[in-house]
Amino acid sequence: MASKQIVITGVSRGLGRAMVEEFIAQDHVVAGCARSAEAVAELRERFGPSSSFDVVDVADDRQVQAWAAGVLARGVPELLVNNAGVINRSAPLWQVPADEFDVVVDVNIKGTVNVIRHFVPAMIERGRGVIVNFSSGWGRSVAAEVAPYCASKWAIEGLTQALAEELPQGMAAVPLNPGIIDTDMLRSCFGESAASYSDPAAWAKRAVPFILKIGPKENGRQLSVPG
Ligand SMILES: NC(=O)c1ccc[n+]([C@@H]2O[C@H](COP(=O)([O-])OP(=O)(O)OC[C@H]3O[C@@H](n4cnc5c(N)ncnc54)[C@H](OP(=O)(O)O)[C@@H]3O)[C@@H](O)[C@H]2O)c1
Repeated sequence: MASKQIVITGVSRGLGRAMVEEFIAQDHVVAGCARSAEAVAELRERFGPSSSFDVVDVADDRQVQAWAAGVLARGVPELLVNNAGVINRSAPLWQVPADEFDVVVDVNIKGTVNVIRHFVPAMIERGRGVIVNFSSGWGRSVAAEVAPYCASKWAIEGLTQALAEELPQGMAAVPLNPGIIDTDMLRSCFGESAASYSDPAAWAKRAVPFILKIGPKENGRQLSVPG
């Protein structure tokens, strides 16, 4: 497969970090971001100048705009992966503080849209490219104590399918359910039992080839990483 330019958010740990490792192992060029300056410095050190890593809070439209301008000056991505996400601390909806609800909406919904706003016009201008928005099993079903997270991922499903209707032929936008993987996020809701699920590196070996094969035929389809 020819080397692709890949933009991915949330690369400091968990699924994003594991995807970076796998994308680069397969000779693709990655532009990634996360809030953790320490993790970004470590990624720069590990992968050198062919890929780029920046400290960006996707919830901040101006930061995303500046990041996109720098990345697009080096090339237009063939693949845009909106992976960055947060989950509320497990609690019944009426006990979730307003500011915590805001963070889930700001990162998971508005952050995804900020990234789309600043990268997708260049992809449309070039007439090709794939947008993968990370959803969840909880974007298609629900569970107690994670209502804010469920609401944000149901929103991702809806806005991605609407976006798919807007894209020109030759492009695709899909919501992707990654499955259940042992990351910090899973530990926050499953506790120690998260350890019985796949680790991110093993998951990325399945997920990355699956993501790289997504094309215009899949536009608007609700996809899941094969288990
Ligand atoms: N793990 C699962 O079983 C599972 C299941 C279904 C869906 N998902 C989805 O998969 C994606 C990755 O989840 P994960 O399990 O890998 O979570 P994680 O281990 O908690 O990692 C989340 C990543 O997102 C980044 N991030 C969070 N807020 C950000 C912001 N405002 N700006 C930029 N980056 C931000 C974090 O980096 P910083 O903190 O450094 O910013 C981190 O790199 C999420 O969208 C999640 O909803 C995961």
